[in-house]
Amino acid sequence: MKVNDVTSYETDGRVAIITVDSPPVNALSSAVRQGVAQALDSALADEAIGAVVLICAGRTFFAGADISEFGKPPVEPSLRDLLKTIEDASKPVIAAIHGTALGGGLETALCAHYRIAVPSAKCGLPEVKLGLLAGAGGTQRLPRVVGIAKALEMVTGGDPISARAAYDMGLLDELAGESSLRADAIAFAGRVLAENRPLVKVRDKTDKLDEARGKPEIFEQFRAANAKRFKGFLAPEYSIRCVEATLSDRSFDEALAYERSLFEELMADSQSAAQRHVFFAERQAAKVDGLPADTPIIPIRTVAVIGAGTMGGGIAMNFANVGIPVTLVENNAAALDRGLGVIRRNYETTASKGKISADDVEKRMGLIRGTLDIADIGDCDLVIEAIFEQMDIKQEMFARIDAVAKPGAILASNTSYLDLDQIAAATSRPDHVIGLHFFSPANVMRLLEIVRGSATAPTVIATAMKLAKTINKVGVLVGNCFGFVGNRILAARAAQADALLLKGASPSQVDQVMTDFGFAMGNYQMRDLAGNDVGWNREKSSSSTVREILNEMGRHGQKSGGGYYDYDEKRNRTPSPVALQVIEDFAAKQGIVRQPVDEQEIHDRLLFAMVNEGAKILDEGIASRASDVDIIWVTGYGWPRYSGGPMFWADLQGLPAVLAKLKALEAAHGPAFTPSPLIERLAAEGKGFKDI
Ligand code: 3HC
Repeated sequence: MKVNDVTSYETDGRVAIITVDSPPVNALSSAVRQGVAQALDSALADEAIGAVVLICAGRTFFAGADISEFGKPPVEPSLRDLLKTIEDASKPVIAAIHGTALGGGLETALCAHYRIAVPSAKCGLPEVKLGLLAGAGGTQRLPRVVGIAKALEMVTGGDPISARAAYDMGLLDELAGESSLRADAIAFAGRVLAENRPLVKVRDKTDKLDEARGKPEIFEQFRAANAKRFKGFLAPEYSIRCVEATLSDRSFDEALAYERSLFEELMADSQSAAQRHVFFAERQAAKVDGLPADTPIIPIRTVAVIGAGTMGGGIAMNFANVGIPVTLVENNAAALDRGLGVIRRNYETTASKGKISADDVEKRMGLIRGTLDIADIGDCDLVIEAIFEQMDIKQEMFARIDAVAKPGAILASNTSYLDLDQIAAATSRPDHVIGLHFFSPANVMRLLEIVRGSATAPTVIATAMKLAKTINKVGVLVGNCFGFVGNRILAARAAQADALLLKGASPSQVDQVMTDFGFAMGNYQMRDLAGNDVGWNREKSSSSTVREILNEMGRHGQKSGGGYYDYDEKRNRTPSPVALQVIEDFAAKQGIVRQPVDEQEIHDRLLFAMVNEGAKILDEGIASRASDVDIIWVTGYGWPRYSGGPMFWADLQGLPAVLAKLKALEAAHGPAFTPSPLIERLAAEGKGFKDI
């Protein structure tokens, strides 16, 4: 029997089955809450019914509260009210879980009296990733079933645990057969009735809490151990406070009220708005305007990577990780051996941390075949070039690839700055050429900038977008220009940073302002890590910038023991008197009298240069949405998630304020800050980047 559009109600003997079917993820929307509340009323009112199974159709159990309802006027019943009804029900309610029981979904299950799940299910409280906490009782109930230590880890990390682990901890009462959840849940409900089992309320459990009583140091130790991970974020600390409250003098209901007040504080804070923006931005990026859903996808069964350096090796690993065979091409045996050795070491390090097995290492290595003969790529569906970043070298390579690659194969370049159309022009198939710009380390960083050339065919774009998902990357489609989206903004920021060095700032002062803002790394720490010589051309170097001089001195960054900083053999960083002298001498040669620079100036010049460049990129159509720019900077360059990316950060301040700031910076520092016409337009119309 249909209860409403998303809920149905059936009976099987003395068991009522409430099924929610609200694609895509059964989020606890108002319709779902209303449907469940109404169906539960029917079950409780029917004397013939002894127990209730709550189950979801489709791909998952409730994946949480409906995030798209946040910030909108509340609709009855609230999730908290519904959960209270479930917990206070006079008949046992059994949550039957498949897919993911996340956030409000797991909180719902924790209010049921029993929980059964299929072995592949996962349970978690990921609210922290949205800048929130598990505010429907999750921070109070979870510790009562998994203990304080595990609960702290789950509420602050947000990662789900497997059904097996959940069962072992007592979070689940039963494991069902993988394909017989419904029947097993009904049978379990029958046993609960037959054995007259009690209405178990998680809120009444205290044994797992008792283990931690009298040990308040647990919390301080946890905070200290995770200080670096939590830096800047509000939600982990608030979540810890709630878990702490489970051991306080507060009653359960008082602790729930406390949890609710902290949840509401977080909900009203810009951090949560930013983190929710990032959540949707990531999903939005996967959608390409104007690309029909039925665009044919080219099957990618085998991949070739040209170049076994750091980038090429990392790229190859992505495919081996998901079972796609890779042919790795180098031009000399020593470089190939070195490259394969690095890949093996990377896998072995992962295995030593217990993340993959020794077997996996061999399996993945077995999928990567090294060769010195480019003719070996003839059968590959996709060829990714990852060689030296210089146009003539890339063009020559693409001509060679084109000559041996089979018809229909996609030819991709990992170029980070160069003109993709010029590269494509070296081939007979510019429509099958695309940019796949990976970020270093390529096997770790989630971002993949997918660069469309002027001739790139829709089928090639659609294939690349799908491929990004296959290798667990966030693929973002961008247009072709110098540096595309990410590096073009990086270049705008770097130009300001370099100017600030000459003016009087030190590399560590510039970096400190960026890390205080929330970046994992500052400009110069990043340059030294990536290699100060990336993009540097020894032959053309003419001591025309500090960077060129440092490279001419052999200061290529961490790998050479020095760049903008000095490094010891363990790569510990210290400010470099040598680099500072280079900066001072260079400034003097330019006639610049260096003087102290204040942090506010560094902050404003670096960040507003980024916003302005991002706006120009949008105006030119190089990025199709402001949220694409944000997701590129959050996933590829360490922009702090809690401020949402450069465009979201600008919107938070309001574009009239951004415009005024840019005009002041333009007056002080010149045309780099001439406001983008887009910002002028949006500010005049009272709009933000979010409105385009
Ligand atoms: N509310 C609203 N929409 C949601 C949603 C949610 N909780 N979770 C996912 N969606 C939407 C996505 O936006 C996406 O929409 P789109 O197709 O229009 O882009 C669609 O569902 C499918 O999502 P994914 O592309 O992410 O699908 P996957 O299969 O890759 O992943 C998932 C599924 C693991 C459930 C993943 O979507 C996810 O992690 N969702 C968020 C879970 C979460 O954070 N829950 C907590 C919510 S806050 C809460 O519960 C507060 C409470 O404590 C009071």
